[in-house]
Amino acid sequence: MAKPDIITGLDIGSSQVVAVVARHDPDAETTDVIGAARQPCAGLKGGVVINIDETARSITRAVEAAEEMAGLVGHSKGVLIGVRGGHIQTFNHHGAMNIARTDKEITASDRDQVVESTKAVPISPDREIVHVIPQDFILDRQNGVPNPIGMEAMLLEVDVHIVTASQSHLNNVWKAIARAGFDVEEPIYGLLAVGDTVVTQEEKGLGCLLVDLGGQTTGLAVYAEGSVRFTKELAVGSDAISHDLSHALRTSLVQAQKVKEMYGAASRTLAEGNVDEEIEYTSVDGRTPRRLKRAAIFDYIAPRVEEIFSLISEELQRSNYADHVAGGGVILTGGGAQLKGLAQAAEQILDLPVRMGLPQNIGGVPDIVTNPGYATALGLITYRHLGDWARSRRASRRVGLGQRLKSLVEDFF
Ligand SMILES: Nc1ncnc2c1ncn2[C@@H]1O[C@H](COP(=O)(O)OP(=O)(O)OP(=O)(O)O)[C@@H](O)[C@H]1O
Ligand SMILES: [Mg+2]
Repeated sequence: MAKPDIITGLDIGSSQVVAVVARHDPDAETTDVIGAARQPCAGLKGGVVINIDETARSITRAVEAAEEMAGLVGHSKGVLIGVRGGHIQTFNHHGAMNIARTDKEITASDRDQVVESTKAVPISPDREIVHVIPQDFILDRQNGVPNPIGMEAMLLEVDVHIVTASQSHLNNVWKAIARAGFDVEEPIYGLLAVGDTVVTQEEKGLGCLLVDLGGQTTGLAVYAEGSVRFTKELAVGSDAISHDLSHALRTSLVQAQKVKEMYGAASRTLAEGNVDEEIEYTSVDGRTPRRLKRAAIFDYIAPRVEEIFSLISEELQRSNYADHVAGGGVILTGGGAQLKGLAQAAEQILDLPVRMGLPQNIGGVPDIVTNPGYATALGLITYRHLGDWARSRRASRRVGLGQRLKSLVEDFF
């Protein structure tokens, strides 16, 4: 019997780090979350590292807290990293090769070679390819072949979705992780990881839109005919609602965020509970108490929700895939998706069916598995395309295990 593996996933979000520790049982093919933690990080802005030491500290704290919960302190060495942010760019590309043998049976190596050939696309020198995801194989002009191995053809072609990231941004993430004493197992575009865990294969087949509403970014992914066709990061997220509230209520962002999470809703009519109650918060100084009728906050939240989803709608139109998503509809996830009534509001604005996306096929601690704020980190530990086509660059990334940073020590000195 194979030993269960311990997997650590680290989601580098727009302003926080989320770590999960999971146990994978290869025999039963199950993955159970046994520990998780979120750690705010001042060293990140929109998914980009602006301070390496701060980020390293948050990474250490998040991983240690997750390990502590799992009862496996000091266990994580290699971590799966989810990266995201506006520096990620994606596009579709095509590759082709002749099978110039007498037996024309396509082998795994032929498949790898044609996929690999698509990497020869010119990209600017400050970017690197993170993923090449095959969408479709085309055999002698017949498209829609999911797996060409064992089939015969003279001409093997492939359509792929290529994800590139800014090299300097990636290097800074790597440096922060190395400084925290971890080894990067694999970089994964966080949006694809969350997509693989919250979107069903059936929805991908029908065509659908994934909306990952984070703090400072909103990730969009269109799936059609079974695979990812379009991805985009919008530089706006649920924090924009909190900013509006902090101005309107003349309070700190932290206070406004709390008001949004506790009393907020996408609109007054979608709010649960008593909208006429008085709510209490503190003013900017953090001390002076203030009171406000709850009904007033929806005037600030609703227009921003409308704006965010109008931007999403525009982006969908621009993607040329708007006609492909009606079948499977919209799957909403990310921390921001927890705003009350958001799914209903989104349905009205997008004129599409909307459902909340929660990680599937992952067991363990229920509070974590059902929280959309953990969806990306959970997606990382079950990501299926792991290492498929990004292996070549991975080897060169191994920076050697440094001394693992101990946050406790850091805190004392
Ligand atoms: N219960 C809630 N109601 C409304 N909003 C919430 C709730 N819980 C969290 N949020 C919001 O979700 C956002 C954070 O989402 P998430 O954890 O997905 O962000 P992130 O991963 O750091 O960012 P990103 O995905 O953009 O990189 C914050 O704006 C937060 O206020
Ligand atoms: Mg996120």
